[in-house]
Amino acid sequence: MPHHLPDPQSEAAWESYVEDFRRSAHDSVEWIAQYLINIRHMPVQSRIRPGQLVDALPAEAPNHGESFSAILSDFQRQILPAVTQWNHPGFMAYFGTSASTPGILAEMLIAAMNTNGLHWQTSPAVAELEQVALGWLRQWLGLPKEFFGIIYDTASTSTMHALICAREKAEPQSRQDGMRAGLVIYTSEQAHSSVEKGAMAVGFGQNHVRKVPTDALFRMKPDALRALIEADLNAGLRPCAIVATIGTTSSTSVDPVAECAALAEEFKLWLHVDCAYAGPCALLPECAHHFKGIERADSVVTNPHKWLMTQMDCSTFYTRHPQILRQALSLVPEYLRASEDPRAVHLMDYGVPLGHRFRSLKLWFILRYFGRDGVMEFLRRHIALAQKFAAWVDADKRFERVAPVPFSTVCFRLRQRQGESREQSDERNKRLLEKVNQSPKIFLSHTALNGRYVIRIAIGNIATGEQDIELAWKLVQEAAE
Ligand SMILES: Cc1ncc(COP(=O)(O)O)c(C=O)c1O
Repeated sequence: MPHHLPDPQSEAAWESYVEDFRRSAHDSVEWIAQYLINIRHMPVQSRIRPGQLVDALPAEAPNHGESFSAILSDFQRQILPAVTQWNHPGFMAYFGTSASTPGILAEMLIAAMNTNGLHWQTSPAVAELEQVALGWLRQWLGLPKEFFGIIYDTASTSTMHALICAREKAEPQSRQDGMRAGLVIYTSEQAHSSVEKGAMAVGFGQNHVRKVPTDALFRMKPDALRALIEADLNAGLRPCAIVATIGTTSSTSVDPVAECAALAEEFKLWLHVDCAYAGPCALLPECAHHFKGIERADSVVTNPHKWLMTQMDCSTFYTRHPQILRQALSLVPEYLRASEDPRAVHLMDYGVPLGHRFRSLKLWFILRYFGRDGVMEFLRRHIALAQKFAAWVDADKRFERVAPVPFSTVCFRLRQRQGESREQSDERNKRLLEKVNQSPKIFLSHTALNGRYVIRIAIGNIATGEQDIELAWKLVQEAAE
């Protein structure tokens, strides 16, 4: 057969095309199940050299269609070794994620239907299930009913949309005339780089992003925030938005959101809260204090594709002012004109992208499959493992823990020795991490805190258990010079 393209005129040809898929799909589901069962025994990090995969694959696409079996066999032989396994229980770098099984199933169905929710009519299910699933998650986050939710690809995109809203509120004519210089964003020096990147993309400019100093526990200092806002006002600039973080990327520190909210209200600024990683913990009564004030935010982002067992990509953005988001971004050419029924939500009106994937289906599957109890246990398990790891660090005099552990991430380093320079001490920590990461079973990452090299272990995978953190700690101890 020169190719597999079915003849649309022939029912038999269409059926044979689908049957070809059915046979291979069964094999693929078998493969996925075996992959998940054996994931612990696979190397967590890919060891290929840069360019190795590119060099190994043909530089040109095939002229003639190939069989599923040939493609799947090359996937296993050539692609898989180049994959770093984020599903691995020993993946404790960055922020861990997991592809849970209900999410895998939902992604298959999403891919099969390939429906695209531009506006309500192009797929009512996309528009309406997103409201339902995000309504459930909104309640878990403790956000009031008036918050509208939408799914974007990443937290970076969500935060960029928050900044678009902030600009729209401060300067409604910017949509027509472009933005005037001088609007200023305030965020902590520990905030994720996506805040600054969003400010670059939206037109605030890096020079108009103030990095507010933090205290000894890496939390934004409200006094310093006030001083910066007042200084900018005195200089004739226009303070526009505060971005606070619950669970910063380096140390998972928690900004004082209630105090930020008070300042935002006093100076009429937009308050965006980034809880991309820690958001799901709002469900836990013992974590409620970290989320105090979130209900006063103008917008919030959390990423189910981080600590809520959801596969990439799924970032949920909430705002209490959907009309501002819409004002900023709705632009409807004639061919997209659709129902004016107020219950027909057109997702294209609430974001830069026109096309809208059916991501809510996987979130809905996951929230239903695990339920509130399951999610709470999942989070508590990881918090308890992190506490255990932190206690091991604290009990070993060679190490110091450099930040509190409010969630499931521990930051630690080898103590600086007497007579050792800061650089030598940082180098020793770097070597330790390199040695640990030589193991195919564990992957940790690093960051900088107070200008020092710091090792980070972040627990967030559904498969991670006590044996994995025990192994990580054993490897860390063995690698300590
Ligand atoms: C607090 C925080 N915000 C935003 C991001 C960016 O996430 P994304 O990759 O979804 O853009 C991260 C990434 O780790 C993060 O930790």
